[in-house]
Amino acid sequence: MDRPTVYIETYGCQMNVSDSELMLGALASAGYEHVEKPDGADVILVNTCAIRDHAEQRVVGRLGELKRHMKRDSIMGVTGCMAQRLGPQLLDKAKHVSLVIGPDGYRALPALVDGARRGERAIATTFDLEEHYEDFSPRRFDKVKAWIPVQRGCDYRCTYCIVPTTRGSERSRRLDDVVRETRTVVAEGMSEVVLLGQTVNSYNDGTHDFADLLRAVGDVPGVRRVRFTSPHPNDFTDRVIGAMADVGAVCEHVHLPMQSGSSRVLKRMLRRYSREGYMECVERIRAAIPGVSLTTDIIVGFPGETDEEFEETLSAVREVGFADAYTFIFSPRDGTPATRLPAEWTVPESVAGERLQSLVETVRGIARRSNLGLLGTRHEVLVERQARRGDAMLMTRTRDFKTVLVPGDASMLGRYLTVELTGTTGSTFTGSVVHERQPLPMAGHDAAHEAAVASLVTR
Ligand code: SAH
Ligand code: SF4
Ligand code: F3S
Repeated sequence: MDRPTVYIETYGCQMNVSDSELMLGALASAGYEHVEKPDGADVILVNTCAIRDHAEQRVVGRLGELKRHMKRDSIMGVTGCMAQRLGPQLLDKAKHVSLVIGPDGYRALPALVDGARRGERAIATTFDLEEHYEDFSPRRFDKVKAWIPVQRGCDYRCTYCIVPTTRGSERSRRLDDVVRETRTVVAEGMSEVVLLGQTVNSYNDGTHDFADLLRAVGDVPGVRRVRFTSPHPNDFTDRVIGAMADVGAVCEHVHLPMQSGSSRVLKRMLRRYSREGYMECVERIRAAIPGVSLTTDIIVGFPGETDEEFEETLSAVREVGFADAYTFIFSPRDGTPATRLPAEWTVPESVAGERLQSLVETVRGIARRSNLGLLGTRHEVLVERQARRGDAMLMTRTRDFKTVLVPGDASMLGRYLTVELTGTTGSTFTGSVVHERQPLPMAGHDAAHEAAVASLVTR
């Protein structure tokens, strides 16, 4: 008999992508086959995000659409942060959903899916502070870089944020377990790892801090690139920055969420740093890691944000010179402290919209000027995937996280190249391949290998 099939759709952050990989791994071990399309799948899972209302509305719409792809005996499960936040309400809202499972409940997934296929409905939203899914074998979507969760939950309490409610308290995996997983992904052919946590640099397994972790992961033979997301400015100790500078594999890019450039707004957000504190953190990182690029997250329209406070955000963006920024309009989340701020502090939608637009323009202008200045320079890139648009183009990334499109085919996935930047849209680049940077398997002079390398020169 054919194996039952599972389709999964993932929303939200990389942590959710990583969780989907864990869920697919668990279901694969239980005999399920992963399919890329929902049509007729025996099990449809929607792994959800609750960070902004818009994210949730999209999922609600999608649950309705996916219903049309269900067979009479298909089952649908909602997992992730929205499942955790809404629990039983989801079962009431969507009658075709039979499973609601929060981020700490995936161990029970195969059993719950079996139950659902026998007609049961279930909710699993209990937090488990020991849970790291150590014995799971994730089924990874990406063949070039590996998402490796090192910490779950969050102990900060930023006043706008739902994550502490949906993912519970912070806990770190044991360093040995992270190193073991790193070895496994290298053995599978991957050379880039991305360490994941909500405040990843506050990692502490009781014995080791994030500096130890960076050194240990960077030491695993075969690891050529180490990235991490997202760090919190307050957890960049000198030890952590020292390790970033020392470990050759740690890439010259830090995604450092700023949220606002106004100390007053930061205080209302309970970010626990001021504008000056953030700038000081930027300086320490820049002093230790020459050429490091910085990207960030920013929220506009937080309750009470005045025109002057928003201007401070624009000036902070200019002062730091971010390579890129993810920008959001504040979205009130039920139960978060920000919803208890005085109603008259609410920033009208139209004002927030205008602020977002001027912020996006500012960010783009800065990136464009800096990117134009990079034309003609050479960089090491890793081929991550085939570019979506256009055939025979590859999406590659520099160590400092710039996207470079280069000509090439699928056989080049996972390879390192040296490229020269030949054009820019302002945000991404096109490049030409100068040469390939594989470890050279040459003993003395090898004409065939040299010819192969020469054939990659496209200029
Ligand atoms: N743990 C990460 C952030 C995870 S959420 C950190 O602290 O950096 C990703 C981003 O979503 C946040 O950085 C923030 O900019 C944005 N965000 C979170 N809650 C939001 C809300 N209620 N409204 C709008 N944006 C929000
Ligand atoms: Fe949310 Fe703040 Fe925790 Fe990030 S640090 S997940 S923004 S509470
Ligand atoms: Fe969304 Fe949950 Fe991540 S709310 S951003 S999927 S931690």
